[in-house]
Amino acid sequence: MKPMRVLSVVSEIYPIIKTGGLADVAGALPVALKAAGVDIRSLVPGYPAVMAALERAECLHETPAFGGASRLLAGSAGTLDLFVLDAPHLFARPGNPYLSPEGVDWPDNGLRFAALARMAWHIGIGGVSSFEPDIIHAHDWQAALTPAYLHYGGQRRPKTVLTVHNLAYQGIFPRQIIEEIGLPAESFTIDGVEYYGDVSFLKAGLQFADAITTVSPTYAREIQSDEGGMGLGGLLRARSGVLRGILNGIDTDVWNPATDPSISQRFSLHTIDDRSANKMALQRRFGFEPDDSALLLGVISRLTPQKGLDLLLDCIPTLLKEGMQLVLLGSGEADLQDRFEAAAKANPKQIGATIGFDEALAHQIQAGADALVVPSRFEPCGLTQLCALRYGAVPIVSAVGGLQDTVRDVDETDRGQATGFTFKPVTSAELSVALRRARSVFQDKAAWRWLQTNGMSTDVSWRGRARQYAEVYSQIAGEGAA
Ligand code: ADP
Ligand code: GLC
Repeated sequence: MKPMRVLSVVSEIYPIIKTGGLADVAGALPVALKAAGVDIRSLVPGYPAVMAALERAECLHETPAFGGASRLLAGSAGTLDLFVLDAPHLFARPGNPYLSPEGVDWPDNGLRFAALARMAWHIGIGGVSSFEPDIIHAHDWQAALTPAYLHYGGQRRPKTVLTVHNLAYQGIFPRQIIEEIGLPAESFTIDGVEYYGDVSFLKAGLQFADAITTVSPTYAREIQSDEGGMGLGGLLRARSGVLRGILNGIDTDVWNPATDPSISQRFSLHTIDDRSANKMALQRRFGFEPDDSALLLGVISRLTPQKGLDLLLDCIPTLLKEGMQLVLLGSGEADLQDRFEAAAKANPKQIGATIGFDEALAHQIQAGADALVVPSRFEPCGLTQLCALRYGAVPIVSAVGGLQDTVRDVDETDRGQATGFTFKPVTSAELSVALRRARSVFQDKAAWRWLQTNGMSTDVSWRGRARQYAEVYSQIAGEGAA
């Protein structure tokens, strides 16, 4: 049988350009799908980092793209097979893919990502004879116009999957954009791309995709409620027949404590004691006394309201009183950055904060912290708790979305299954209780070791999860053939 041919469309991809977990998934899932026999390529924007990484580039198509010239390039970057939308007037900008150096959304983000979807449409309708996809897999709002373009202008029409990584980002633009991006006027209806008088790219995708997935089964349920649906709950309920939650995995080669080049001391399930060298290195790096008896908490996160880290700030008095230490690596909202920096300045022996994006330090925190704290208000999947499980850092997480699906609480599960601490409702009082529970289990060395061992034995790889995507592809491709 001919392998299924899939075009993945995405706005960031590890290791080339990353702001969060979307890039990790976009980088690792195709590798796992390839291993499962799927012929997959990714279409990404030609940011400077992508253009620099692209090898053996070949130009397949040239076309105007909303105010400038564009080219479709095919090439590779390491193990990634890429199509690149080279449109310098849209993407030749430094730094973050979505924000200007001043930290605000680029004013033309609507045009930029409509151009990406438009190019996906071109490939979808057979524009590249060497790669005619059976399926287009669009990720998040930045790629979500693809099913709409195909709906309104498709001769040959591949099936489409839209994966929602985060419903909080919907790509909403004024109605005038319809004309600029070449959608027909008739698309501006409630059954089309219209959303409370504006245009929503994510809604367009949810409306027209043949299958919708999101990144955990619990989040798939949460987003169908009025509260979790962020304005799209009704539409998601209406489409529940094609909506499915598939948990994310992590790249277990990139995140492997036995081979990790970024950490002081490598270790495995059988040499967990060796972790302590990483804990001491982390304590020294942040200017703390190396002290194995202090519960060292780690955080690696975007600093946005989603992540609930203001609740952790509220818990600092508890944390100090109980003799815990905290190291945070994060960037995002100025207010949260300032508050963590101030807490570190006021308590330099117990709290450390590094503001910025630092891949190596993220690995060092996973390898050295005793526990990783993820107090999110909502969390579609979350990847840092999966890395934590693999690195023997015990997760302390709110019981929402993918966090709930991936961490088993010590008080609710038997010893052979427990991997961490969960809490709900998501309040600072409940987080504080969870921190104190962790502190007390931490003092029981054998019990803590059980948690670490169970975590490190958990399968967090993409293998089985990629197969679930392959199933979705086959299912909708089969519907077409019927
Ligand atoms: P989200 O995508 O919502 O930000 P995830 O937990 O799914 O959350 O993924 C976050 C990814 O980004 C993880 O790979 C994490 O290690 C990484 N990350 C987040 N913040 C930083 C940072 N400041 N420095 C380095 N890596 C970070
Ligand atoms: C989003 C979500 C996060 C998820 C990631 C990858 O950024 O916030 O929970 O893990 O996408 O799917």
